[in-house]
Amino acid sequence: MRSFDTLLFTALAASPALARQVPANVQSLYNSIRAQGSCKNILKGGFYSQEGDSKNFSYCGDHLNDYGIMYLQGTNGNLVNMDIDCDGALGTGDGSCDSSQDTQGETSFKDTITSYKAGIKDLNAYIHSFVVLGNEGSKSGYVTFEPESVGVDPLSLVAVVCGNKMFYGVWGDTNGDDGPPLVGEVSDALGRACYGSAVNGNAAHDANDVLYIAFTGAGAVPGAKGANWSASSFTDFESSLGALGDSLVARIGSSGSPPPPASSTKPSGSQPTCSWSGHCAGAKCSSDDDCSDDLVCKSGKCATDS
Ligand SMILES: *[C@@H]1O[C@H](CO)[C@@H](O)[C@H](O)[C@H]1NC(C)=O
Ligand SMILES: *[C@@H]1O[C@H](CO)[C@@H](O)[C@H](O)[C@H]1NC(C)=O
Repeated sequence: MRSFDTLLFTALAASPALARQVPANVQSLYNSIRAQGSCKNILKGGFYSQEGDSKNFSYCGDHLNDYGIMYLQGTNGNLVNMDIDCDGALGTGDGSCDSSQDTQGETSFKDTITSYKAGIKDLNAYIHSFVVLGNEGSKSGYVTFEPESVGVDPLSLVAVVCGNKMFYGVWGDTNGDDGPPLVGEVSDALGRACYGSAVNGNAAHDANDVLYIAFTGAGAVPGAKGANWSASSFTDFESSLGALGDSLVARIGSSGSPPPPASSTKPSGSQPTCSWSGHCAGAKCSSDDDCSDDLVCKSGKCATDS
């Protein structure tokens, strides 16, 4: 058995864009979300999956408190589609994005990527597996949402179920107000891992059957050392997220571990409330990113910045 397993693994590992099997707990989450039809705990609604369709798509918090996840969902059993993001440092890929008019040159968390000192200055849509989440803009009628408001950190791990496969990526870019408020977009490299040459900078996967799962908490952020940021291929970067992704995905479903526990250092007698449970005033922290809302990390504890 052992040698057979090893042989099989080696054969799979050698193929490009190795897909992960959708684990049973993730498949049953996928099925239950679609069977439920629409989101009950809408964190923010009013988004489009593609231009011209209905504003029926939302950031959903139905499993924010039990599994520590947020995902995108439509109505009538729909999830969302997959558009292709061509942002970031280009030039090393196969040109799939080159004719797209939708390139912006840099991604939202470029400064953090640079600060990782990993030999890259920005994400590359041809290499890095990343997902676009959050909507930022000031144009009238543009609906905004910050995933940070529910405890999802920039550059944290996102699991994507597409075409009966699963991939890990990071939250690497944000939707802007250069059109209607859209949701459901990934880097070119991740899109092609899911759907091959059927997608590119100008061609989306239109079916609303893609599940994007973002994980709350500082523990979902791989950080400078937790991913191979300087990888030269999608497969090398994606596989470097495997151990963290598997541990987060294990939170999903009754057999998984519970989400990160609420801090045990709450001041006694009071029940601080904030949008990110366990990260309110008084909770332990190592940086401002560990604290909810506008709280900052002072002497190892989340506190108001005054
Ligand atoms: C949008 O949601 C409304 C209310 O649930 C529903 O009546 C309508 O059919 C939905 N539209 C689409 C295109 O799914
Ligand atoms: C990252 O991936 C590249 C190949 O894409 C490899 O050469 C390098 O050793 C990897 N780095 C780490 C830290 O695994």
